Amino acid sequence: MKMDMNDVERVLVSEEEIKEICQRLGAQISKDYEDKNLLLVSVLKGSVPFMADLMRNITCDLRIDFLVVSSYSGAKTTGHVSFKKDLDINPEGYDILVVEDILDSGLTLAYLKEILIGRNVNSVKICTFLDKQANRKADIEADYVGKQIPDEFVIGYGLDYDEKYRNLPFVGVLSPKVYADK
Ligand code: IMP
Ligand code: MG
Repeated sequence: MKMDMNDVERVLVSEEEIKEICQRLGAQISKDYEDKNLLLVSVLKGSVPFMADLMRNITCDLRIDFLVVSSYSGAKTTGHVSFKKDLDINPEGYDILVVEDILDSGLTLAYLKEILIGRNVNSVKICTFLDKQANRKADIEADYVGKQIPDEFVIGYGLDYDEKYRNLPFVGVLSPKVYADK
């Protein structure tokens, strides 16, 4: 079925801005990790487009890996996650940069960061494409932020609503009529 573009209330991050963000972050990360042992860790599935764009803007040696986490019920309050898929690469000695689509409450990432730190890694930092700071519940901040956004539900560029809209090439605000129809 063809996607209904009326489901997008307005564009929040255009394709052009996405490109600029990835170039800016890529340049900064290339500088900061020049003498390090970089392992980019993408948290599936939302970070896939950002991971693909970001890695191509990083000029130092790097490796990539993927994690799948599932939140336990009650995750909204504890943030506890289990791995549905763990890393393939043993992260010992690596400088880990977790690549995320959006940092919202931060509960999932705060827990994930603790787990990674416990694995004899050299360092763990976070690079998020979007940051909804107003909604933060955990004591965590990203080291690299693409763009700060207001507390609205966004879709596209990997972000989903009910697993849809991930393929939009820009980030948009989901029209409230989409929930109302449910
Ligand atoms: P949190 O930071 O632990 O609350 O969880 C962040 C995750 O929630 C992200 O990786 C997204 O999968 C999802 N999420 C949070 N806000 C949005 C949004 O506005 N649109 C789509 N997914 C979102
Ligand atoms: Mg999601």
